[in-house]
Amino acid sequence: MRISVIGTGYLGATHAACLAEMGFEVIGMDTDPAKVAALAEGRLPFHEPALPELLRKHVQSGRLRFTTSMAETAAFANVHFLAVGTPQASEDGTADVSQIDGALRALLAHVDQDALVIGKSTVPVGTARRLASMAKKLARPGTTVELAWNPEFLREGYAVKDTLAPDRLVFGTDSGTGLPILRNVYATALAAGTPLVETDFETAELVKVAANAFLATKISFINAFAEITEVAGGDITTLADAIGMDERIGRRFLNAGVGFGGGCLPKDIRALQARTRELGLGNTMDFLASVDALNLRRRDKVVELVELALTGSGARPQVAILGASFKPESDDVRDSPALDVAARLHERGFAVSVFDPIARHSAAQRRPELDYPETIEGAVAGADAVVLLTEWRQFRELVPGDLDALVRRRNIIDGRNVLDAAQWLDGGWNFWQLGRKPADGCAAVPAAAAGLDALAVRA
Ligand code: UDX
Repeated sequence: MRISVIGTGYLGATHAACLAEMGFEVIGMDTDPAKVAALAEGRLPFHEPALPELLRKHVQSGRLRFTTSMAETAAFANVHFLAVGTPQASEDGTADVSQIDGALRALLAHVDQDALVIGKSTVPVGTARRLASMAKKLARPGTTVELAWNPEFLREGYAVKDTLAPDRLVFGTDSGTGLPILRNVYATALAAGTPLVETDFETAELVKVAANAFLATKISFINAFAEITEVAGGDITTLADAIGMDERIGRRFLNAGVGFGGGCLPKDIRALQARTRELGLGNTMDFLASVDALNLRRRDKVVELVELALTGSGARPQVAILGASFKPESDDVRDSPALDVAARLHERGFAVSVFDPIARHSAAQRRPELDYPETIEGAVAGADAVVLLTEWRQFRELVPGDLDALVRRRNIIDGRNVLDAAQWLDGGWNFWQLGRKPADGCAAVPAAAAGLDALAVRA
């Protein structure tokens, strides 16, 4: 079977390389010539563990090729995955589906054999059915183009593993059309026992949106409790451990900190609210507005902490931000809490330097006004405060002795709750975390400072 993947961004490039790994002949199509040229040479335009090797392997074997031509794509395969972006279109969160409509239209103009088009992108419910009737209307006479929906649940940083060995597969079809082909495409994963859900279009679309809304809610739920423990006392990590022991709840996605970002969760919860309103269901998803607000408030909190830590420390205090990507093992800075906090501190007049082991280039493109030293030492040299915002392993393993001689003042804010408070306090540092009561030997900052009485400042 020959397969095309239309849209070779993060999702599409991963999917194309993994399909080649599964044994198919694959063509990846994108309208961006620079992206196609890089991929065709086996170069990945973003960071993702294990993917460069897979890409090179299959470009070299000839099983995987790339093109900007839709005519070539239509002629090459009769199974086409749509993996184009569905970004946030407007302030109210509505998803922009023009790329997906455009890709299908362009494909249909060239298809002259029966074909199955499989949507992968995250879309507002109702999109698949609309595209299916568009395909019926626009298919050339004598050809049948069917639609199916197969949402993607891959996580950045684990994209290859999540694609080759997913924790479930969801096939959404119109009365089963296309199911035999889908089962063929995923034969390896199915033979290995991957659970399969065969359902209709709407359920398939909603499974993806619901999963992301649930994950976002889980993170904001624990961050809401972090707001409580910051004021009332208590330890958010111990609380998460304890509720996570209940199998019905589970410990994952209960890490309190500076909150979620990236290209999916923030956009998807906004798009879901917008779609729900369009469906006339006014308030059904209102709680997601709180999830979003709580999440953004965590960033305010870190900004406040830095301001508090550096009150009275002279003209332009220097802040070293550790991390720029929205999470470790990724160079993605879309809606990154780390980069957002860095930019806001810069706006407030702090001298900000940002260090990220991988995302330096993408961060500099998005926020050119900030400084990006090439080493962690360069970033923290002379700093009045160090702020850890993306929990890369090299930051998690930091000990006071690594930074003592470099910084000007020993202030550290751990925005991901990954450092050992006692170690930093014993090392003579002022130390703050989100959602944690002060460690022994620490005085709380007076409540007058905007209710921030759970902050740990060495007495
Ligand atoms: C997410 C979904 O997990 C994935 O299934 C979907 O296909 C795409 O969206 P991804 O955006 O790669 O994947 O990141 P994810 O691992 O979900 O993390 C999202 C954000 O939540 C990150 O900013 C991360 O730092 C944050 N997070 C995660 C927390 O703040 N606390 C947690 O406990 C977990």
